[in-house]
Amino acid sequence: MSITEPKVREVLSTVIDPALEHDLVSWRIFRSAEVSGDDVLVKLDLPTHGYPVPLRRELVSRVETALQAAGARTVTVMTEVVTAHIPAPSDKALLKGPKNVIAVAAGKGGVGKSTVAVNLALALQRHGAKVGILDADVFGPSIPTMLGPAERPPGTTPDQKIVPALHHGLEVISVGFFVDKGEAVVWRGPMVHRLLQQFLGDVAWGELDYLIADLPPGTGDVQLSLSQLIPIAGAVMVTTPQEVSIIDVVKGIAMFEKVEIPILGVVENMSFYKCPACGHHDEIFSHGGGKRLAQEINAQFFGEIPIDTRIRFGGDAGVPVVIASPDSENAQTFMSIASKTALKVAANVLSKPKKSPRLSVIR
Ligand SMILES: Nc1ncnc2c1ncn2[C@@H]1O[C@H](COP(=O)(O)OP(=O)(O)OP(=O)(O)O)[C@@H](O)[C@H]1O
Ligand SMILES: [Mg+2]
Repeated sequence: MSITEPKVREVLSTVIDPALEHDLVSWRIFRSAEVSGDDVLVKLDLPTHGYPVPLRRELVSRVETALQAAGARTVTVMTEVVTAHIPAPSDKALLKGPKNVIAVAAGKGGVGKSTVAVNLALALQRHGAKVGILDADVFGPSIPTMLGPAERPPGTTPDQKIVPALHHGLEVISVGFFVDKGEAVVWRGPMVHRLLQQFLGDVAWGELDYLIADLPPGTGDVQLSLSQLIPIAGAVMVTTPQEVSIIDVVKGIAMFEKVEIPILGVVENMSFYKCPACGHHDEIFSHGGGKRLAQEINAQFFGEIPIDTRIRFGGDAGVPVVIASPDSENAQTFMSIASKTALKVAANVLSKPKKSPRLSVIR
Protein backbone atom coordinates (compact mmCIF):
# COMPACT_ATOMS: atom_id res chain seq x y z
CA MET A 1 0.00 0.00 0.00
CA SER A 2 1.39 3.38 -0.91
CA ILE A 3 1.94 6.13 1.60
CA THR A 4 -0.60 8.95 2.00
CA GLU A 5 -0.56 12.39 3.59
CA PRO A 6 -2.63 11.28 6.64
CA LYS A 7 -0.23 8.34 7.05
CA VAL A 8 2.76 10.76 7.06
CA ARG A 9 1.09 12.75 9.85
CA GLU A 10 0.40 9.58 11.80
CA VAL A 11 4.01 8.41 11.46
CA LEU A 12 5.44 11.79 12.41
CA SER A 13 3.29 11.89 15.53
CA THR A 14 5.54 9.09 16.79
CA VAL A 15 8.83 10.75 15.79
CA ILE A 16 10.56 12.57 18.64
CA ASP A 17 12.49 15.78 18.02
CA PRO A 18 15.90 15.03 19.57
CA ALA A 19 16.43 18.63 20.69
CA LEU A 20 12.99 19.31 22.15
CA GLU A 21 12.29 15.72 23.17
CA HIS A 22 8.72 15.91 21.96
CA ASP A 23 6.79 14.58 18.98
CA LEU A 24 6.60 16.56 15.76
CA VAL A 25 2.83 16.75 15.39
CA SER A 26 1.49 17.85 18.75
CA TRP A 27 4.16 20.55 18.99
CA ARG A 28 3.36 21.77 15.45
CA ILE A 29 6.85 21.16 14.08
CA PHE A 30 5.33 19.18 11.20
CA ARG A 31 3.87 21.74 8.80
CA SER A 32 2.83 19.75 5.72
CA ALA A 33 3.58 16.85 3.43
CA GLU A 34 3.26 16.40 -0.30
CA VAL A 35 3.03 12.83 -1.53
CA SER A 36 3.59 11.90 -5.13
CA GLY A 37 3.48 8.14 -5.67
CA ASP A 38 5.89 6.79 -3.06
CA ASP A 39 7.92 10.00 -2.90
CA VAL A 40 7.35 12.23 0.10
CA LEU A 41 8.24 15.86 0.66
CA VAL A 42 7.97 16.89 4.30
CA LYS A 43 8.07 20.48 5.48
CA LEU A 44 9.08 21.13 9.08
CA ASP A 45 8.86 24.40 11.00
CA LEU A 46 11.76 24.49 13.43
CA PRO A 47 10.64 26.69 16.34
CA THR A 48 14.10 28.18 16.95
CA HIS A 49 17.48 28.80 15.33
CA GLY A 50 19.02 27.27 18.43
CA TYR A 51 19.21 23.67 17.19
CA PRO A 52 22.74 22.33 17.49
CA VAL A 53 23.72 21.13 14.00
CA PRO A 54 24.06 17.43 14.98
CA LEU A 55 20.55 17.41 16.47
CA ARG A 56 19.11 19.09 13.40
CA ARG A 57 20.69 16.33 11.28
CA GLU A 58 19.43 13.68 13.68
CA LEU A 59 15.90 15.10 13.39
CA VAL A 60 15.98 14.87 9.58
CA SER A 61 17.39 11.36 9.75
CA ARG A 62 14.64 10.23 12.17
CA VAL A 63 11.97 11.58 9.81
CA GLU A 64 13.53 9.83 6.81
CA THR A 65 13.91 6.51 8.61
CA ALA A 66 10.38 6.52 10.00
CA LEU A 67 8.77 7.38 6.65
CA GLN A 68 10.88 4.88 4.73
CA ALA A 69 9.80 2.20 7.20
CA ALA A 70 6.20 3.23 6.48
CA GLY A 71 6.63 2.68 2.72
CA ALA A 72 8.07 5.90 1.32
CA ARG A 73 10.63 5.38 -1.47
CA THR A 74 12.28 8.78 -1.23
CA VAL A 75 11.91 11.30 1.56
CA THR A 76 12.87 14.95 1.18
CA VAL A 77 12.83 17.04 4.34
CA MET A 78 12.67 20.82 4.07
CA THR A 79 13.19 22.81 7.24
CA GLU A 80 12.45 26.44 7.92
CA VAL A 81 12.87 28.27 11.20
CA VAL A 82 9.65 29.91 12.33
CA THR A 83 10.51 31.23 15.78
CA ALA A 84 7.90 30.15 18.30
CA HIS A 85 6.43 32.84 20.49
CA ILE A 86 3.27 33.58 22.39
CA PRO A 87 1.37 36.57 21.01
CA ALA A 88 1.15 39.39 23.53
CA PRO A 89 -2.19 39.83 25.26
CA SER A 90 -3.84 43.13 24.37
CA ASP A 91 -2.84 44.77 27.68
CA LYS A 92 0.82 44.03 26.97
CA ALA A 93 0.97 44.74 23.25
CA LEU A 94 3.41 47.63 23.70
CA LEU A 95 6.37 45.96 22.03
CA LYS A 96 6.18 45.55 18.25
CA GLY A 97 8.84 43.55 16.43
CA PRO A 98 10.64 41.33 18.95
CA LYS A 99 9.00 37.92 19.33
CA ASN A 100 10.56 36.78 22.61
CA VAL A 101 12.06 38.84 25.41
CA ILE A 102 14.68 36.99 27.43
CA ALA A 103 15.84 38.61 30.67
CA VAL A 104 19.32 38.07 32.06
CA ALA A 105 19.15 38.42 35.81
CA ALA A 106 21.03 37.78 39.03
CA GLY A 107 20.46 38.20 42.72
CA LYS A 108 23.43 40.51 43.13
CA GLY A 109 25.77 42.80 41.24
CA GLY A 110 28.99 42.01 39.49
CA VAL A 111 28.38 38.32 38.77
CA GLY A 112 28.55 38.80 35.00
CA LYS A 113 24.97 39.49 33.88
CA SER A 114 26.01 41.99 31.24
CA THR A 115 28.85 39.76 30.05
CA VAL A 116 26.41 36.87 29.70
CA ALA A 117 23.78 39.13 28.07
CA VAL A 118 26.06 40.38 25.27
CA ASN A 119 27.62 36.99 24.59
CA LEU A 120 24.23 35.26 24.68
CA ALA A 121 22.87 37.82 22.20
CA LEU A 122 25.84 37.40 19.85
CA ALA A 123 25.70 33.61 20.16
CA LEU A 124 21.99 33.57 19.26
CA GLN A 125 22.84 35.77 16.29
CA ARG A 126 25.55 33.31 15.23
CA HIS A 127 22.95 30.55 15.42
CA GLY A 128 21.08 32.55 12.77
CA ALA A 129 18.54 34.50 14.82
CA LYS A 130 17.78 38.21 14.62
CA VAL A 131 18.63 39.66 18.01
CA GLY A 132 18.56 42.90 19.96
CA ILE A 133 19.64 44.03 23.40
CA LEU A 134 17.62 46.18 25.74
CA ASP A 135 19.99 47.55 28.36
CA ALA A 136 17.44 47.66 31.17
CA ASP A 137 20.12 48.39 33.76
CA VAL A 138 19.16 52.06 33.85
CA PHE A 139 21.25 52.58 37.00
CA GLY A 140 24.52 51.29 35.56
CA PRO A 141 24.29 50.77 31.82
CA SER A 142 27.34 48.85 30.63
CA ILE A 143 26.15 47.44 27.31
CA PRO A 144 27.44 50.35 25.15
CA THR A 145 30.97 49.86 26.54
CA MET A 146 30.83 46.11 26.19
CA LEU A 147 29.76 46.31 22.55
CA GLY A 148 32.19 49.06 21.51
CA PRO A 149 31.63 51.71 18.85
CA ALA A 150 28.31 51.46 17.00
CA GLU A 151 28.09 50.66 13.31
CA ARG A 152 25.08 52.93 13.43
CA PRO A 153 24.28 55.30 16.31
CA PRO A 154 20.70 55.59 17.55
CA GLY A 155 18.48 57.88 15.50
CA THR A 156 14.89 58.86 14.96
CA THR A 157 12.33 58.01 12.30
CA PRO A 158 10.25 60.71 10.55
CA ASP A 159 7.39 59.82 12.92
CA GLN A 160 9.64 60.41 15.96
CA LYS A 161 10.33 56.83 16.94
CA ILE A 162 13.77 55.96 18.24
CA VAL A 163 15.86 53.86 15.86
CA PRO A 164 18.04 51.47 17.86
CA ALA A 165 21.80 51.61 17.49
CA LEU A 166 23.50 48.76 15.66
CA HIS A 167 26.48 47.02 17.29
CA HIS A 168 27.97 43.90 15.69
CA GLY A 169 24.62 43.40 13.92
CA LEU A 170 22.58 43.64 17.14
CA GLU A 171 19.89 46.29 17.60
CA VAL A 172 20.69 48.01 20.89
CA ILE A 173 18.98 50.51 23.16
CA SER A 174 20.58 51.77 26.35
CA VAL A 175 20.12 54.75 28.62
CA GLY A 176 23.90 55.01 28.22
CA PHE A 177 23.30 56.49 24.75
CA PHE A 178 21.32 59.36 26.16
CA VAL A 179 23.20 60.43 29.30
CA ASP A 180 26.86 61.38 29.54
CA LYS A 181 29.29 58.81 30.87
CA GLY A 182 29.88 59.37 34.54
CA GLU A 183 26.74 61.44 34.94
CA ALA A 184 24.86 60.06 37.93
CA VAL A 185 21.19 59.59 37.20
CA VAL A 186 18.78 58.93 40.01
CA TRP A 187 15.77 57.13 38.68
CA ARG A 188 12.69 56.90 40.80
CA GLY A 189 10.14 54.13 40.30
CA PRO A 190 7.67 56.04 38.08
CA MET A 191 10.55 57.43 35.96
CA VAL A 192 11.96 53.95 35.47
CA HIS A 193 8.53 52.78 34.37
CA ARG A 194 8.14 55.65 31.90
CA LEU A 195 11.66 55.14 30.52
CA LEU A 196 11.15 51.42 29.97
CA GLN A 197 7.78 52.15 28.39
CA GLN A 198 9.60 54.39 25.88
CA PHE A 199 12.37 51.87 25.28
CA LEU A 200 9.76 49.28 24.43
CA GLY A 201 6.96 51.17 22.73
CA ASP A 202 8.70 54.21 21.19
CA VAL A 203 11.58 52.29 19.63
CA ALA A 204 11.33 51.10 16.03
CA TRP A 205 12.57 47.58 16.85
CA GLY A 206 12.99 45.26 13.88
CA GLU A 207 11.38 41.84 13.52
CA LEU A 208 13.67 40.25 16.11
CA ASP A 209 13.53 36.62 17.19
CA TYR A 210 14.96 37.52 20.58
CA LEU A 211 15.35 40.71 22.57
CA ILE A 212 17.80 40.20 25.42
CA ALA A 213 17.09 42.40 28.44
CA ASP A 214 20.10 43.02 30.69
CA LEU A 215 18.64 43.67 34.14
CA PRO A 216 20.10 45.51 37.12
CA PRO A 217 20.99 43.28 40.07
CA GLY A 218 18.35 42.01 42.45
CA THR A 219 14.66 42.60 42.17
CA GLY A 220 13.30 46.11 42.00
CA ASP A 221 11.49 48.65 39.90
CA VAL A 222 12.96 47.52 36.59
CA GLN A 223 11.97 43.89 37.03
CA LEU A 224 8.49 44.85 38.17
CA SER A 225 7.89 47.42 35.41
CA LEU A 226 9.14 45.15 32.66
CA SER A 227 6.89 42.33 33.77
CA GLN A 228 3.92 44.70 33.83
CA LEU A 229 4.63 46.21 30.43
CA ILE A 230 5.39 43.18 28.25
CA PRO A 231 5.28 39.41 28.34
CA ILE A 232 8.72 38.00 29.17
CA ALA A 233 9.55 34.60 27.73
CA GLY A 234 11.74 33.90 30.74
CA ALA A 235 14.88 34.72 32.65
CA VAL A 236 18.38 33.29 32.53
CA MET A 237 19.74 33.44 36.06
CA VAL A 238 23.45 34.11 36.42
CA THR A 239 25.25 33.06 39.55
CA THR A 240 28.79 32.57 40.80
CA PRO A 241 29.71 29.36 42.57
CA GLN A 242 29.82 30.77 46.09
CA GLU A 243 27.01 29.84 48.41
CA VAL A 244 26.26 33.45 49.37
CA SER A 245 25.36 34.54 45.89
CA ILE A 246 23.16 31.48 45.49
CA ILE A 247 21.09 32.50 48.48
CA ASP A 248 20.53 35.87 46.78
CA VAL A 249 19.42 34.17 43.60
CA VAL A 250 16.92 31.99 45.43
CA LYS A 251 15.42 35.15 46.95
CA GLY A 252 15.21 36.77 43.55
CA ILE A 253 13.52 33.76 42.04
CA ALA A 254 10.55 34.02 44.38
CA MET A 255 9.93 37.52 43.03
CA PHE A 256 10.21 36.37 39.41
CA GLU A 257 7.63 33.69 40.11
CA LYS A 258 5.31 36.27 41.59
CA VAL A 259 5.40 38.38 38.43
CA GLU A 260 5.08 35.32 36.19
CA ILE A 261 8.53 35.36 34.62
CA PRO A 262 9.55 31.72 34.20
CA ILE A 263 13.15 30.81 34.99
CA LEU A 264 14.61 29.34 31.82
CA GLY A 265 17.81 28.08 33.37
CA VAL A 266 20.91 28.84 35.40
CA VAL A 267 24.38 29.86 34.20
CA GLU A 268 27.34 29.61 36.55
CA ASN A 269 29.87 32.33 35.77
CA MET A 270 33.44 32.60 37.05
CA SER A 271 33.14 28.90 37.60
CA PHE A 272 36.78 27.89 37.55
CA TYR A 273 40.15 29.14 36.40
CA LYS A 274 42.05 27.28 33.75
CA CYS A 275 45.66 28.41 33.58
CA PRO A 276 46.36 29.38 29.96
CA ALA A 277 50.03 28.41 30.41
CA CYS A 278 49.79 24.97 32.02
CA GLY A 279 46.07 24.05 31.73
CA HIS A 280 45.75 23.64 35.51
CA HIS A 281 42.09 23.82 36.59
CA ASP A 282 41.51 25.82 39.78
CA GLU A 283 38.12 26.26 41.46
CA ILE A 284 38.74 29.64 43.07
CA PHE A 285 35.19 30.22 44.31
CA SER A 286 34.44 26.53 44.92
CA HIS A 287 32.35 24.76 42.33
CA GLY A 288 28.97 23.27 41.51
CA GLY A 289 26.84 26.02 43.08
CA GLY A 290 25.06 26.71 39.80
CA LYS A 291 24.11 23.06 39.38
CA ARG A 292 22.88 22.87 42.97
CA LEU A 293 20.85 26.02 42.52
CA ALA A 294 19.30 24.68 39.31
CA GLN A 295 18.31 21.52 41.16
CA GLU A 296 16.92 23.45 44.09
CA ILE A 297 14.66 25.61 41.94
CA ASN A 298 13.90 22.80 39.50
CA ALA A 299 15.44 24.62 36.55
CA GLN A 300 17.77 23.49 33.82
CA PHE A 301 21.52 24.03 34.24
CA PHE A 302 22.74 25.76 31.08
CA GLY A 303 26.49 25.63 31.67
CA GLU A 304 29.53 27.05 33.37
CA ILE A 305 31.81 29.83 32.18
CA PRO A 306 35.38 29.99 33.50
CA ILE A 307 37.14 33.05 34.86
CA ASP A 308 39.17 34.09 31.91
CA THR A 309 40.95 37.36 31.22
CA ARG A 310 39.95 36.98 27.56
CA ILE A 311 36.28 37.19 28.60
CA ARG A 312 36.92 40.35 30.62
CA PHE A 313 39.07 41.82 27.89
CA GLY A 314 36.39 41.15 25.27
CA GLY A 315 33.96 43.22 27.35
CA ASP A 316 36.43 46.02 28.00
CA ALA A 317 37.51 46.22 24.37
CA GLY A 318 33.99 46.18 22.95
CA VAL A 319 34.47 42.88 21.11
CA PRO A 320 32.91 40.10 23.23
CA VAL A 321 34.58 36.71 23.13
CA VAL A 322 31.87 35.07 21.00
CA ILE A 323 32.96 37.21 18.06
CA ALA A 324 36.54 38.03 19.12
CA SER A 325 37.52 34.34 19.08
CA PRO A 326 34.56 32.44 17.64
CA ASP A 327 36.37 29.08 17.66
CA SER A 328 37.54 29.29 21.27
CA GLU A 329 36.24 27.04 24.02
CA ASN A 330 34.65 30.08 25.70
CA ALA A 331 32.74 31.00 22.53
CA GLN A 332 31.58 27.38 22.17
CA THR A 333 30.33 27.46 25.77
CA PHE A 334 28.26 30.56 25.02
CA MET A 335 26.96 28.95 21.79
CA SER A 336 25.80 25.96 23.82
CA ILE A 337 24.18 28.16 26.50
CA ALA A 338 22.41 30.12 23.74
CA SER A 339 21.16 26.94 22.15
CA LYS A 340 19.77 25.62 25.44
CA THR A 341 18.15 28.98 26.19
CA ALA A 342 16.47 29.17 22.79
CA LEU A 343 15.28 25.57 22.95
CA LYS A 344 13.83 26.14 26.42
CA VAL A 345 11.94 29.24 25.21
CA ALA A 346 10.57 27.22 22.29
CA ALA A 347 9.59 24.31 24.53
CA ASN A 348 7.77 26.66 26.91
CA VAL A 349 5.81 28.16 24.00
CA LEU A 350 4.98 24.88 22.28
CA SER A 351 3.94 23.09 25.45
CA LYS A 352 1.12 25.59 25.84
CA PRO A 353 -2.02 24.81 23.83
CA LYS A 354 -2.48 27.18 20.92
CA LYS A 355 -5.27 29.58 21.75
CA SER A 356 -6.13 33.24 21.43
CA PRO A 357 -4.34 35.50 23.90
CA ARG A 358 -6.03 36.08 27.22
CA LEU A 359 -5.98 39.15 29.40
CA SER A 360 -3.73 38.61 32.38
CA VAL A 361 -4.17 40.67 35.51
CA ILE A 362 -1.20 41.46 37.73
CA ARG A 363 -2.11 41.59 41.38
N1 LIG B 1 33.92 34.80 33.18
C1 LIG B 1 34.58 35.93 33.38
N2 LIG B 1 35.94 35.96 33.39
C2 LIG B 1 36.61 37.12 33.61
N3 LIG B 1 36.03 38.29 33.84
C3 LIG B 1 34.67 38.32 33.86
C4 LIG B 1 33.88 37.15 33.62
N4 LIG B 1 32.57 37.50 33.70
C5 LIG B 1 32.55 38.82 33.95
N5 LIG B 1 33.80 39.32 34.06
C6 LIG B 1 34.19 40.70 34.37
O1 LIG B 1 33.64 41.03 35.64
C7 LIG B 1 33.14 42.35 35.66
C8 LIG B 1 31.65 42.32 36.02
O2 LIG B 1 30.95 41.67 34.96
P1 LIG B 1 29.56 42.26 34.43
O3 LIG B 1 29.63 43.73 34.24
O4 LIG B 1 29.16 41.43 33.27
O5 LIG B 1 28.65 41.90 35.69
P2 LIG B 1 27.19 42.41 36.04
O6 LIG B 1 26.55 41.32 36.83
O7 LIG B 1 26.48 42.86 34.82
O8 LIG B 1 27.51 43.65 36.94
P3 LIG B 1 26.49 44.81 37.44
O9 LIG B 1 25.73 44.22 38.57
O10 LIG B 1 27.41 45.90 37.83
O11 LIG B 1 25.61 45.15 36.28
C9 LIG B 1 33.44 42.92 34.28
O12 LIG B 1 34.66 43.62 34.33
C10 LIG B 1 33.57 41.69 33.40
O13 LIG B 1 34.42 41.90 32.28
MG1 LIG C 1 25.59 44.67 34.35
